[in-house]
Amino acid sequence: MSASKSVSVKNLSKIFDGSGGKKVTAVNNVSLTINPGEFVTLLGPSGCGKTTILRMVAGFETPTAGDVLIGDERVNTLTPDRRDTAMVFQSYALFPHLNVFENIAYGLKIKKLKPDVIRAKVKEILGLVDLHDLETRSPNQLSGGQQQRVALARALVMEPSVLLFDEPLSNLDAKLRIHMRREIRKIQHQFGITSIYVTHDQAEAMSMSDRIIVMNKGVVEQVGTPREIYATPASQFVADFIGTANIIPSQVVAVNSERTEVSALGTSFHVKTSLSLQPGDTVKLIVRPEAITLSCDAGIPATISSSVFMGAYQDYVISSHGQNLLLVDADPANHQTFEAGEQVFLVIAPNKLHIVK
Ligand SMILES: Nc1ncnc2c1ncn2[C@@H]1O[C@H](COP(=O)(O)OP(=O)(O)OP(=O)(O)O)[C@@H](O)[C@H]1O
Ligand SMILES: [Mg+2]
Repeated sequence: MSASKSVSVKNLSKIFDGSGGKKVTAVNNVSLTINPGEFVTLLGPSGCGKTTILRMVAGFETPTAGDVLIGDERVNTLTPDRRDTAMVFQSYALFPHLNVFENIAYGLKIKKLKPDVIRAKVKEILGLVDLHDLETRSPNQLSGGQQQRVALARALVMEPSVLLFDEPLSNLDAKLRIHMRREIRKIQHQFGITSIYVTHDQAEAMSMSDRIIVMNKGVVEQVGTPREIYATPASQFVADFIGTANIIPSQVVAVNSERTEVSALGTSFHVKTSLSLQPGDTVKLIVRPEAITLSCDAGIPATISSSVFMGAYQDYVISSHGQNLLLVDADPANHQTFEAGEQVFLVIAPNKLHIVK
Protein backbone atom coordinates (compact mmCIF):
# COMPACT_ATOMS: atom_id res chain seq x y z
CA MET A 1 0.00 0.00 0.00
CA SER A 2 1.13 3.53 -0.65
CA ALA A 3 1.46 5.77 2.39
CA SER A 4 -1.80 7.26 3.55
CA LYS A 5 -2.27 10.94 2.87
CA SER A 6 -4.32 13.78 4.27
CA VAL A 7 -7.23 15.22 2.30
CA SER A 8 -8.12 18.88 2.56
CA VAL A 9 -10.77 20.94 0.94
CA LYS A 10 -10.47 24.70 1.12
CA ASN A 11 -13.41 27.06 0.61
CA LEU A 12 -14.93 24.47 -1.67
CA SER A 13 -18.18 25.34 -3.45
CA LYS A 14 -20.24 23.72 -6.16
CA ILE A 15 -23.08 25.50 -7.90
CA PHE A 16 -25.05 23.44 -10.41
CA ASP A 17 -27.28 24.73 -13.17
CA GLY A 18 -30.64 23.43 -12.07
CA SER A 19 -33.75 23.16 -14.23
CA GLY A 20 -35.15 26.36 -15.74
CA GLY A 21 -31.84 28.22 -15.36
CA LYS A 22 -32.08 28.10 -11.54
CA LYS A 23 -28.77 27.74 -9.75
CA VAL A 24 -28.40 25.06 -7.07
CA THR A 25 -25.74 25.63 -4.42
CA ALA A 26 -24.90 22.03 -3.53
CA VAL A 27 -21.75 22.82 -1.53
CA ASN A 28 -21.25 26.23 0.04
CA ASN A 29 -17.72 27.31 1.04
CA VAL A 30 -16.69 24.15 2.90
CA SER A 31 -13.23 23.79 4.47
CA LEU A 32 -12.11 20.52 6.05
CA THR A 33 -8.98 18.53 6.78
CA ILE A 34 -8.97 14.75 7.06
CA ASN A 35 -5.80 13.37 8.65
CA PRO A 36 -3.71 10.55 7.18
CA GLY A 37 -5.27 7.19 8.09
CA GLU A 38 -8.39 8.77 9.52
CA PHE A 39 -11.90 7.41 8.89
CA VAL A 40 -14.26 10.33 8.53
CA THR A 41 -17.96 10.27 7.71
CA LEU A 42 -19.97 12.91 5.89
CA LEU A 43 -23.39 12.68 7.48
CA GLY A 44 -26.51 14.64 6.67
CA PRO A 45 -29.97 14.55 5.15
CA SER A 46 -30.66 13.87 1.50
CA GLY A 47 -29.50 16.66 -0.78
CA CYS A 48 -27.11 18.32 1.70
CA GLY A 49 -24.12 17.94 -0.63
CA LYS A 50 -22.33 14.81 0.64
CA THR A 51 -21.97 13.06 -2.73
CA THR A 52 -20.97 16.31 -4.40
CA ILE A 53 -18.06 16.80 -1.99
CA LEU A 54 -16.94 13.19 -2.49
CA ARG A 55 -17.12 13.53 -6.27
CA MET A 56 -15.04 16.71 -6.17
CA VAL A 57 -12.39 14.91 -4.09
CA ALA A 58 -12.43 12.00 -6.56
CA GLY A 59 -12.30 14.30 -9.57
CA PHE A 60 -15.66 13.38 -11.10
CA GLU A 61 -16.94 16.91 -10.51
CA THR A 62 -15.14 20.24 -10.97
CA PRO A 63 -15.41 22.75 -8.09
CA THR A 64 -17.06 26.09 -8.86
CA ALA A 65 -14.64 27.59 -6.32
CA GLY A 66 -12.02 26.41 -3.87
CA ASP A 67 -9.35 23.73 -3.78
CA VAL A 68 -8.96 20.02 -3.18
CA LEU A 69 -5.61 18.87 -1.76
CA ILE A 70 -4.45 15.28 -1.44
CA GLY A 71 -1.36 15.26 0.73
CA ASP A 72 0.33 18.55 -0.17
CA GLU A 73 -0.74 18.41 -3.79
CA ARG A 74 -3.50 20.58 -5.22
CA VAL A 75 -5.40 18.14 -7.43
CA ASN A 76 -8.13 20.38 -8.90
CA THR A 77 -6.97 19.85 -12.46
CA LEU A 78 -6.03 16.15 -12.19
CA THR A 79 -8.30 13.53 -13.75
CA PRO A 80 -9.71 10.90 -11.33
CA ASP A 81 -7.21 8.22 -12.36
CA ARG A 82 -4.30 10.48 -11.37
CA ARG A 83 -5.55 11.35 -7.88
CA ASP A 84 -4.55 8.22 -5.98
CA THR A 85 -8.14 7.75 -4.77
CA ALA A 86 -10.56 4.87 -5.24
CA MET A 87 -14.31 5.03 -4.86
CA VAL A 88 -16.84 2.43 -3.72
CA PHE A 89 -20.40 3.10 -4.84
CA GLN A 90 -23.81 2.16 -3.50
CA SER A 91 -24.62 0.52 -6.82
CA TYR A 92 -21.38 -1.57 -6.72
CA ALA A 93 -20.90 -0.73 -10.42
CA LEU A 94 -19.27 -4.10 -11.20
CA PHE A 95 -18.64 -5.11 -14.81
CA PRO A 96 -21.39 -7.70 -15.50
CA HIS A 97 -19.47 -9.51 -18.26
CA LEU A 98 -16.35 -10.00 -16.13
CA ASN A 99 -16.03 -12.55 -13.34
CA VAL A 100 -14.96 -11.70 -9.79
CA PHE A 101 -11.26 -12.13 -10.48
CA GLU A 102 -11.41 -10.07 -13.67
CA ASN A 103 -13.44 -7.33 -12.00
CA ILE A 104 -10.80 -6.93 -9.30
CA ALA A 105 -7.92 -7.22 -11.77
CA TYR A 106 -9.37 -4.68 -14.20
CA GLY A 107 -7.64 -1.55 -12.87
CA LEU A 108 -4.30 -3.33 -12.56
CA LYS A 109 -4.51 -4.42 -16.21
CA ILE A 110 -5.16 -0.82 -17.24
CA LYS A 111 -2.02 0.05 -15.29
CA LYS A 112 -0.26 -2.59 -17.42
CA LEU A 113 1.13 -4.62 -14.53
CA LYS A 114 2.57 -8.05 -15.35
CA PRO A 115 0.06 -10.93 -15.25
CA ASP A 116 1.83 -12.73 -12.40
CA VAL A 117 1.94 -9.52 -10.33
CA ILE A 118 -1.77 -8.97 -11.00
CA ARG A 119 -2.54 -12.57 -10.05
CA ALA A 120 -0.66 -12.24 -6.73
CA LYS A 121 -2.28 -8.93 -5.80
CA VAL A 122 -5.81 -10.09 -6.66
CA LYS A 123 -5.33 -13.35 -4.73
CA GLU A 124 -4.20 -11.45 -1.65
CA ILE A 125 -7.19 -9.12 -1.73
CA LEU A 126 -9.60 -12.01 -2.38
CA GLY A 127 -8.39 -13.57 0.85
CA LEU A 128 -8.79 -10.33 2.72
CA VAL A 129 -12.45 -9.88 1.76
CA ASP A 130 -13.15 -13.61 2.07
CA LEU A 131 -13.99 -14.28 -1.58
CA HIS A 132 -11.44 -16.99 -2.38
CA ASP A 133 -13.99 -19.52 -3.51
CA LEU A 134 -15.93 -17.19 -5.76
CA GLU A 135 -13.30 -15.82 -8.11
CA THR A 136 -14.75 -17.41 -11.26
CA ARG A 137 -18.35 -16.39 -10.60
CA SER A 138 -19.93 -13.52 -12.48
CA PRO A 139 -21.56 -10.66 -10.51
CA ASN A 140 -25.10 -11.88 -11.22
CA GLN A 141 -24.26 -15.11 -9.40
CA LEU A 142 -23.40 -13.23 -6.18
CA SER A 143 -25.45 -11.95 -3.27
CA GLY A 144 -25.57 -8.21 -2.57
CA GLY A 145 -23.04 -8.54 0.23
CA GLN A 146 -20.65 -10.53 -1.96
CA GLN A 147 -20.98 -7.97 -4.76
CA GLN A 148 -20.22 -5.18 -2.30
CA ARG A 149 -17.13 -7.08 -1.18
CA VAL A 150 -15.95 -7.37 -4.78
CA ALA A 151 -16.45 -3.62 -5.15
CA LEU A 152 -14.39 -3.06 -2.00
CA ALA A 153 -11.68 -5.45 -3.21
CA ARG A 154 -11.56 -3.71 -6.57
CA ALA A 155 -10.91 -0.41 -4.80
CA LEU A 156 -8.37 -1.84 -2.34
CA VAL A 157 -6.32 -3.66 -4.95
CA MET A 158 -5.35 -0.33 -6.49
CA GLU A 159 -3.60 0.53 -3.21
CA PRO A 160 -5.02 4.05 -3.13
CA SER A 161 -3.93 6.64 -0.59
CA VAL A 162 -7.54 7.63 -0.12
CA LEU A 163 -10.71 5.51 -0.15
CA LEU A 164 -14.03 7.18 -0.89
CA PHE A 165 -17.31 5.45 -0.06
CA ASP A 166 -20.72 6.69 -1.19
CA GLU A 167 -23.41 4.90 0.84
CA PRO A 168 -21.82 1.53 0.06
CA LEU A 169 -24.11 -0.48 2.31
CA SER A 170 -27.56 0.96 1.65
CA ASN A 171 -28.61 -1.88 -0.64
CA LEU A 172 -27.88 -4.56 1.95
CA ASP A 173 -30.22 -5.97 4.58
CA ALA A 174 -29.85 -4.75 8.16
CA LYS A 175 -27.82 -7.65 9.49
CA LEU A 176 -25.36 -7.74 6.64
CA ARG A 177 -25.00 -3.99 6.84
CA ILE A 178 -23.79 -4.24 10.44
CA HIS A 179 -21.42 -7.06 9.50
CA MET A 180 -19.99 -5.09 6.57
CA ARG A 181 -19.51 -1.98 8.73
CA ARG A 182 -17.12 -3.97 10.88
CA GLU A 183 -15.40 -5.54 7.87
CA ILE A 184 -14.81 -2.20 6.19
CA ARG A 185 -13.51 -0.67 9.40
CA LYS A 186 -11.21 -3.64 10.04
CA ILE A 187 -9.70 -3.53 6.57
CA GLN A 188 -9.40 0.26 6.65
CA HIS A 189 -7.56 -0.02 9.99
CA GLN A 190 -5.30 -2.76 8.74
CA PHE A 191 -4.20 -0.71 5.74
CA GLY A 192 -4.44 2.67 7.46
CA ILE A 193 -6.05 4.19 4.37
CA THR A 194 -7.49 7.66 4.77
CA SER A 195 -11.22 7.18 4.22
CA ILE A 196 -14.16 9.44 3.55
CA TYR A 197 -17.46 7.67 3.97
CA VAL A 198 -20.81 9.17 2.97
CA THR A 199 -23.99 8.11 4.67
CA HIS A 200 -27.29 9.47 5.93
CA ASP A 201 -27.48 6.65 8.46
CA GLN A 202 -26.42 8.06 11.83
CA ALA A 203 -25.87 4.63 13.40
CA GLU A 204 -23.46 3.79 10.60
CA ALA A 205 -21.64 7.07 11.11
CA MET A 206 -21.48 6.65 14.90
CA SER A 207 -20.20 3.09 14.78
CA MET A 208 -17.53 3.53 12.11
CA SER A 209 -16.04 6.98 12.34
CA ASP A 210 -13.05 8.56 13.99
CA ARG A 211 -14.79 11.85 13.30
CA ILE A 212 -18.15 12.81 11.84
CA ILE A 213 -18.81 15.83 9.66
CA VAL A 214 -22.46 16.80 9.99
CA MET A 215 -23.73 18.66 6.95
CA ASN A 216 -26.92 20.57 6.24
CA LYS A 217 -27.86 22.43 3.06
CA GLY A 218 -24.36 22.55 1.63
CA VAL A 219 -22.58 23.72 4.78
CA VAL A 220 -20.79 21.98 7.64
CA GLU A 221 -22.75 22.20 10.89
CA GLN A 222 -20.21 20.42 13.11
CA VAL A 223 -17.07 18.30 12.99
CA GLY A 224 -16.26 16.05 15.92
CA THR A 225 -15.86 12.57 17.33
CA PRO A 226 -19.10 10.59 17.67
CA ARG A 227 -19.04 11.35 21.42
CA GLU A 228 -18.56 15.08 20.94
CA ILE A 229 -21.32 15.28 18.35
CA TYR A 230 -23.74 13.40 20.58
CA ALA A 231 -22.92 15.03 23.92
CA THR A 232 -22.24 18.57 22.76
CA PRO A 233 -24.08 19.23 19.50
CA ALA A 234 -23.25 22.62 18.03
CA SER A 235 -26.80 23.37 16.92
CA GLN A 236 -30.39 22.27 17.24
CA PHE A 237 -30.07 20.68 13.82
CA VAL A 238 -27.18 18.44 14.96
CA ALA A 239 -28.90 17.58 18.26
CA ASP A 240 -32.01 16.57 16.38
CA PHE A 241 -30.23 14.70 13.59
CA ILE A 242 -27.98 12.59 15.83
CA GLY A 243 -29.92 10.35 18.14
CA THR A 244 -33.07 11.52 19.87
CA ALA A 245 -33.13 14.84 21.65
CA ASN A 246 -35.63 16.68 23.79
CA ILE A 247 -35.30 20.30 22.75
CA ILE A 248 -36.68 22.58 25.45
CA PRO A 249 -37.00 26.35 24.96
CA SER A 250 -35.45 28.10 27.93
CA GLN A 251 -34.09 31.42 29.10
CA VAL A 252 -30.74 32.40 30.56
CA VAL A 253 -31.13 33.60 34.16
CA ALA A 254 -27.54 34.10 35.23
CA VAL A 255 -24.08 33.61 33.76
CA ASN A 256 -20.98 32.78 35.74
CA SER A 257 -17.66 31.24 34.85
CA GLU A 258 -18.49 27.70 35.97
CA ARG A 259 -22.09 27.22 34.93
CA THR A 260 -24.90 29.09 33.24
CA GLU A 261 -28.28 29.12 34.92
CA VAL A 262 -31.27 28.65 32.64
CA SER A 263 -34.95 28.40 33.47
CA ALA A 264 -37.15 25.70 31.96
CA LEU A 265 -39.88 23.27 33.03
CA GLY A 266 -40.79 25.52 35.97
CA THR A 267 -37.37 25.25 37.54
CA SER A 268 -33.77 26.21 36.87
CA PHE A 269 -30.76 24.23 35.66
CA HIS A 270 -27.05 24.94 35.97
CA VAL A 271 -25.36 23.94 32.74
CA LYS A 272 -21.76 24.00 31.53
CA THR A 273 -21.45 25.74 28.19
CA SER A 274 -18.84 27.38 26.02
CA LEU A 275 -21.42 29.70 24.44
CA SER A 276 -21.16 33.35 25.33
CA LEU A 277 -24.55 34.27 26.72
CA GLN A 278 -26.30 37.13 28.52
CA PRO A 279 -29.08 36.94 31.09
CA GLY A 280 -32.38 37.12 29.20
CA ASP A 281 -31.09 35.28 26.11
CA THR A 282 -33.39 32.63 24.70
CA VAL A 283 -31.67 29.25 24.25
CA LYS A 284 -32.58 25.61 23.71
CA LEU A 285 -31.87 23.08 26.38
CA ILE A 286 -30.89 19.70 24.88
CA VAL A 287 -31.84 16.73 27.04
CA ARG A 288 -31.21 13.18 25.79
CA PRO A 289 -33.91 10.63 26.70
CA GLU A 290 -31.50 8.65 28.88
CA ALA A 291 -30.64 11.75 30.94
CA ILE A 292 -34.10 11.78 32.54
CA THR A 293 -35.20 9.38 35.27
CA LEU A 294 -38.60 9.01 36.88
CA SER A 295 -39.24 9.26 40.58
CA CYS A 296 -42.34 8.75 42.77
CA ASP A 297 -41.49 11.35 45.34
CA ALA A 298 -39.33 14.28 44.26
CA GLY A 299 -38.41 16.27 41.15
CA ILE A 300 -40.24 18.12 38.40
CA PRO A 301 -43.95 17.22 38.34
CA ALA A 302 -45.03 15.40 35.17
CA THR A 303 -47.67 13.09 33.76
CA ILE A 304 -47.01 9.89 31.83
CA SER A 305 -48.57 10.21 28.35
CA SER A 306 -47.44 6.86 27.06
CA SER A 307 -45.44 3.92 28.34
CA VAL A 308 -44.30 1.12 26.04
CA PHE A 309 -42.33 -1.98 27.01
CA MET A 310 -39.69 -2.64 24.32
CA GLY A 311 -37.98 -5.64 25.88
CA ALA A 312 -34.53 -4.26 26.58
CA TYR A 313 -35.93 -0.87 27.57
CA GLN A 314 -39.09 1.04 28.44
CA ASP A 315 -40.10 3.96 26.21
CA TYR A 316 -42.00 6.83 27.80
CA VAL A 317 -43.57 10.03 26.58
CA ILE A 318 -44.08 12.41 29.49
CA SER A 319 -45.79 15.74 29.67
CA SER A 320 -44.46 18.49 31.90
CA HIS A 321 -45.13 22.26 31.78
CA GLY A 322 -46.69 21.98 28.34
CA GLN A 323 -43.71 20.03 26.92
CA ASN A 324 -43.76 16.49 25.63
CA LEU A 325 -40.54 14.73 26.54
CA LEU A 326 -39.15 11.38 25.47
CA LEU A 327 -37.52 9.24 28.11
CA VAL A 328 -35.87 5.84 28.03
CA ASP A 329 -35.49 3.52 31.00
CA ALA A 330 -32.70 1.17 29.95
CA ASP A 331 -33.34 -1.33 32.71
CA PRO A 332 -37.11 -1.69 33.17
CA ALA A 333 -36.80 -5.10 34.83
CA ASN A 334 -35.06 -3.48 37.78
CA HIS A 335 -37.11 -0.30 38.05
CA GLN A 336 -40.66 0.45 38.93
CA THR A 337 -42.48 1.09 35.66
CA PHE A 338 -45.28 3.60 35.25
CA GLU A 339 -48.42 3.55 33.13
CA ALA A 340 -50.09 6.26 31.04
CA GLY A 341 -51.98 8.71 33.21
CA GLU A 342 -49.81 8.33 36.31
CA GLN A 343 -48.37 11.41 38.02
CA VAL A 344 -44.60 11.23 38.47
CA PHE A 345 -41.54 13.40 39.03
CA LEU A 346 -38.65 13.93 36.63
CA VAL A 347 -35.04 13.99 37.69
CA ILE A 348 -32.61 15.34 35.10
CA ALA A 349 -28.89 14.67 35.41
CA PRO A 350 -27.31 18.18 35.36
CA ASN A 351 -24.02 17.03 33.82
CA LYS A 352 -25.88 15.61 30.82
CA LEU A 353 -27.53 18.88 29.89
CA HIS A 354 -26.37 20.95 26.97
CA ILE A 355 -27.36 24.34 25.57
CA VAL A 356 -27.58 25.49 21.95
CA LYS A 357 -28.59 28.90 20.65
N1 LIG B 1 -25.60 17.25 -11.74
C1 LIG B 1 -26.43 17.98 -10.99
N2 LIG B 1 -27.15 18.97 -11.55
C2 LIG B 1 -27.97 19.75 -10.80
N3 LIG B 1 -28.12 19.62 -9.45
C3 LIG B 1 -27.43 18.66 -8.86
C4 LIG B 1 -26.54 17.77 -9.57
N4 LIG B 1 -25.99 16.91 -8.70
C5 LIG B 1 -26.50 17.22 -7.49
N5 LIG B 1 -27.37 18.27 -7.57
C6 LIG B 1 -28.07 18.91 -6.46
O1 LIG B 1 -27.13 19.28 -5.49
C7 LIG B 1 -27.63 19.07 -4.18
C8 LIG B 1 -26.69 18.15 -3.41
O2 LIG B 1 -26.70 16.85 -4.00
P1 LIG B 1 -25.87 15.62 -3.45
O3 LIG B 1 -26.04 14.51 -4.41
O4 LIG B 1 -24.48 16.07 -3.15
O5 LIG B 1 -26.63 15.31 -2.08
P2 LIG B 1 -26.42 14.13 -1.04
O6 LIG B 1 -26.12 14.79 0.27
O7 LIG B 1 -25.42 13.16 -1.55
O8 LIG B 1 -27.87 13.47 -0.95
P3 LIG B 1 -28.33 11.91 -0.85
O9 LIG B 1 -28.25 11.55 0.60
O10 LIG B 1 -29.76 11.96 -1.32
O11 LIG B 1 -27.46 11.10 -1.74
C9 LIG B 1 -29.03 18.52 -4.36
O12 LIG B 1 -29.93 19.58 -4.26
C10 LIG B 1 -29.01 17.96 -5.75
O13 LIG B 1 -30.30 17.97 -6.34
MG1 LIG C 1 -25.57 11.18 -2.17
